[in-house]
Amino acid sequence: MRKASTWLVLFVVLAMALAVAGCSGSQPPASESTSSSSSSTTPNYKLVTPGQITVGSDTSFPPFESMNGDVAEGFDVDLLTAIGKEAGLKVVFKTEVFDTLIPSLKAGGKFDVIASAMTITDERKKEIDFSDPYIDSNQSIAMKKGSTFTSNDQFSGKKVGVQSGTTGEAWAKENLKGATTVPFKTATEAFSALRAGSVEAVVNDLPVTAYIVKDPSLGIEIVKEVPTGEQYGFGVSKDNPDLLKAINDGLAKVKSSGEYDTIYKKWFGTTAQ
Ligand code: ARG
Repeated sequence: MRKASTWLVLFVVLAMALAVAGCSGSQPPASESTSSSSSSTTPNYKLVTPGQITVGSDTSFPPFESMNGDVAEGFDVDLLTAIGKEAGLKVVFKTEVFDTLIPSLKAGGKFDVIASAMTITDERKKEIDFSDPYIDSNQSIAMKKGSTFTSNDQFSGKKVGVQSGTTGEAWAKENLKGATTVPFKTATEAFSALRAGSVEAVVNDLPVTAYIVKDPSLGIEIVKEVPTGEQYGFGVSKDNPDLLKAINDGLAKVKSSGEYDTIYKKWFGTTAQ
């Protein structure tokens, strides 16, 4: 009887000691994964080329990214360059095909970040990490000038151009019942097909289509805005958390300094909402 209670006391004491040890041992677990939270620790990110963020982007999507000669320009380019500056890193854009961006980022070795007006979606979040959202977006349907939109059903039996692998493609497939979606490598090619009359309409991100149709010589217009409530984020590999953090920290700084607004005004001509 006495022996049993001695063992019990011993057991309780031991259990308590272990619990205390466990507590103190696990005291900094929250900071373990965010070891770069204090500026005293050097961030431990992986970069394809040291000292610079190499960026994968489909650079045919103005005003977010497009080529001016052999130089990439646009809202995403300016924004990420400003973010890179905050982290002391140069930013270099590389042109890639949009629907190869996520597999390439995952495979590694080509580029460190996706900056390509990419919508943050749950499906994509299974593959890669996204920065905090940096701008809102929606979809749109464009047709040749003079066409009228009546309902989504009017495209039944017709061809609708989209950029392959985009949220616009997914929306068209889901909502334009009976239509044949024709995937193009770039949005630019989808618009060329629309002008040539080989597709009836193009479903594409509203801010981009709005920018493109400003050129009256193209003879196309937006017939329907679709409020999909999308948000763009920069894509980072799931095994590069310190780089993700550097981008989020930089984005917050660029926003609070007012630089974000300057860049927004430069590319959209208005102030950010
Ligand atoms: N926001 C859409 C998506 O994420 C389209 C993005 C296309 N971007 C580009 N640079 N072509 O699917």
